[in-house]
Amino acid sequence: MKVLLLYTTHEKQTLKIMERIKNRLGHKCDCDVIELLPDTKIDLTPYQAVLLGSSIRYGFYSKIMKKFIDAHYQQLNQIKSGFFGVNMVARKPNKNTPETNLYTRKFLAKILWKPTIKAVFAGALYYPQYNWFDRNMIRFIMWLGKGDTDVSKPMIEYTDWSKVEEFADQFYAEVC
Ligand SMILES: Cc1cc2nc3c(=O)[nH]c(=O)nc-3n(C[C@H](O)[C@H](O)[C@H](O)COP(=O)(O)O)c2cc1C
Repeated sequence: MKVLLLYTTHEKQTLKIMERIKNRLGHKCDCDVIELLPDTKIDLTPYQAVLLGSSIRYGFYSKIMKKFIDAHYQQLNQIKSGFFGVNMVARKPNKNTPETNLYTRKFLAKILWKPTIKAVFAGALYYPQYNWFDRNMIRFIMWLGKGDTDVSKPMIEYTDWSKVEEFADQFYAEVC
C-alpha cells in the first residue's frame, strides 16, 4: 500500500514525529515522506492513504498546509486519511486531544477535509536556534504557562513518543 506522509515544519519536530510514524509502520506500507513547501506539487492519485502533520506558530497551523487542504479536500475525503498537529499547549494533559486542544479544534472546524483519525502531540523547543524576537516571545509564552524557560538548553522536548507510536498503530489499523 502506497502512503503519503506530508508535513510542514519550522525546526523539524514535525518531521521527527513523521519519521517515527514511518519507522513504526515499517515495511507494512510503502511511505513517501514529503515536506510541503510553497511550491510543492503533489499528485494524490497514487496514494491509498494520506497522513498530514503540521505545527503551530503564534497560534496558527501552517498557511501552506491550510491551502493544500482547501485545494485537495474532495480527493482527501475519498481516501483514508489522518491528521496530527504539534504544539506546546498539548504538553498539558487537559489540552492534548484534537477536541481539547483549541488550535486543533478550530483548525479542523475550519476545513472541509474530514480526516479518518486525528491526534495532537506536544512539540519541542530549540531556544538557541531562534532569533532574538522568537526566543523571547516563546520564552514569555512558556513562562505564562509555567513551562521550561531555560534558553541555554539546546532542546526541550515534550513529545510523548509512546503516544506517537500508538497513533501510528491506530493509523495502520484504521487507515492502511
Ligand atoms: C516562535 C514560536 C512560536 C510558537 N507559538 C506557539 C503557540 O502559539 N502555541 C503553542 O502551543 N506552541 C507554539 N510554539 C511551539 C511549537 O509549536 C513547537 O516548538 C513545535 O515543536 C514546532 O514544531 P516544528 O519544529 O515542526 O515547527 C511556538 C514555537 C516558536 C518557536
